[in-house]
Amino acid sequence: MVNLVQSLLEYVSTVGLPTVLIFVVVLLLSLWLLSSRNPRVNWPPGPVCFPVVGCLPQMMISGRRRQPTDLLPWYDTYGDIMHVKLGEQHLIMLGTYELIQEAFVKNAATVSARPTWIYLLKHVVGKDGAGVIFKSGHEWKELRRFTLSSLRDLGLGRKSLQERIQDEARYLVQNIEDENGKAFSPRNRIGKAVSNIISIVVFGTRYDFNDTPEMLPVLEEALRIGEGALSLTDLARFFIPMKKLFALVDKFYSLVRQEVERHRQSFDPTDIRDFIDLFIKVTTEGQDPEIYTEWNVFRIIVDLYLAGTDTTANTLRWSLVHMVNHPDVQKRVQQEIDQVIGQGRVAKMEDKARMPFTEATILEVFRMSTVVPLGVPHATSETINLAGYTIPKGTMILGDLYRVLHDKNNFEDPYKFKPERWLNGNGNVIRSEKLIPFSVGPRVCLGKGLAEMESFIFFTTLLQNFSFKVPEGENPPDGIEGFNVATFTPYPYNVCAVRR
Ligand code: HEM
Repeated sequence: MVNLVQSLLEYVSTVGLPTVLIFVVVLLLSLWLLSSRNPRVNWPPGPVCFPVVGCLPQMMISGRRRQPTDLLPWYDTYGDIMHVKLGEQHLIMLGTYELIQEAFVKNAATVSARPTWIYLLKHVVGKDGAGVIFKSGHEWKELRRFTLSSLRDLGLGRKSLQERIQDEARYLVQNIEDENGKAFSPRNRIGKAVSNIISIVVFGTRYDFNDTPEMLPVLEEALRIGEGALSLTDLARFFIPMKKLFALVDKFYSLVRQEVERHRQSFDPTDIRDFIDLFIKVTTEGQDPEIYTEWNVFRIIVDLYLAGTDTTANTLRWSLVHMVNHPDVQKRVQQEIDQVIGQGRVAKMEDKARMPFTEATILEVFRMSTVVPLGVPHATSETINLAGYTIPKGTMILGDLYRVLHDKNNFEDPYKFKPERWLNGNGNVIRSEKLIPFSVGPRVCLGKGLAEMESFIFFTTLLQNFSFKVPEGENPPDGIEGFNVATFTPYPYNVCAVRR
């Protein structure tokens, strides 16, 4: 071995390092060309990718600020549909509403799988996937139907979900009131309020604002570690601290299992209180045991918590950013609240139809601050033809929701916060089919209705009770850039909440 290294070094010193480097690069390029030449595949254009690592180096460089805008210039060079190689993984990025429709709606039968073969997912949910977010095929359809109908049934319990959200909004107001108009960061308390809604649905309990539910920080830490383009490739195992990540996932699972055990003690099959009771019911009844396995139903619980917390919380966090930056908009929303709701009661969903400016403001928050910029990765379950290109089975497909919502052909002045764009001359709300923060097709966000209800009630209740402003001496928060982790969240900011 020592001899071999010595002769190599001697050889390098004879021919010179540049020659050796050129030789290595040519060799790798040839290997890569040979491996990627497949006459049956006709990939869309995309950046030139390196062997082994693919386009990860360019992505890391162009994405060093990690904004959802980072990759937008690539579309100008390569077109609206791009082929990008991430490590060994082929990825198609769709940058227009029409292409996303063509893939996720028209070709739904073959573009609705999830890429559970990638290292991270394979280790967290198993190679066949599980639950609702990461399951594919007919089992996913059945589990999705079950999840939706269970959410509906649980929402119609003794106290409706709407009433729970109203209660939680009141608690949030009380909590903010304790600040007495002083500067504070709304980040964590918004997170707690929103996670309480999912906790009520799933675990049947809410947590006091002063206690941090153990699950929330575990989830946030796991999402922080396991994010970014790298996590979508098998190279993740070398660059992401997987041991730490899997330990967090295990911790999260054990906390959920503790809840299951607690529920078993008071379980009554005729009185289903929450999703955990439902878990106990379906797994003991043994209906359709192939589909309703313990693992699938357990993962649904995790999925709801995972998908239902940070997304809605970030929407509310962004909404306060826009309110302090646009006091005129804030005032108009408050005038509408005063006219329609007044100060004597909490907002309810029926109010929305009579509050077009408030609705327009929330729609503008959904558009401007796309909290899931690239959606959740889809995958092809068959070879398909998309926009004239042949895309093989087992390709990852991302719909660039951020690009659609910031395309000046769809929305004029896309980086300006303008609720008026959603109102017609009569002051009525005009909706656009291109407003797709929840994605489209059969995989469309399962919690869309809940997210809309939470956004309306929390936002309206906050503005009914307080006027928010930038604390004296502090800079206004950034309304465009933020941390692009698994979801898109504003940079840390403070506000003052002045009682109205
Ligand atoms: C503003 C808030 C939210 C936004 C912007 C949002 C957005 C999204 C997006 C873009 C997807 C991916 C769709 C696709 O694969 O094409 C998704 C999936 C999903 N969301 Fe949401 N979401 C929000 C809130 C929620 C809430 C509150 C829940 C909880 C009930 C939830 C549950 C889910 C689930 C379970 C999926 C996976 C659906 C499937 O794979 O069939 N989401 N969401």
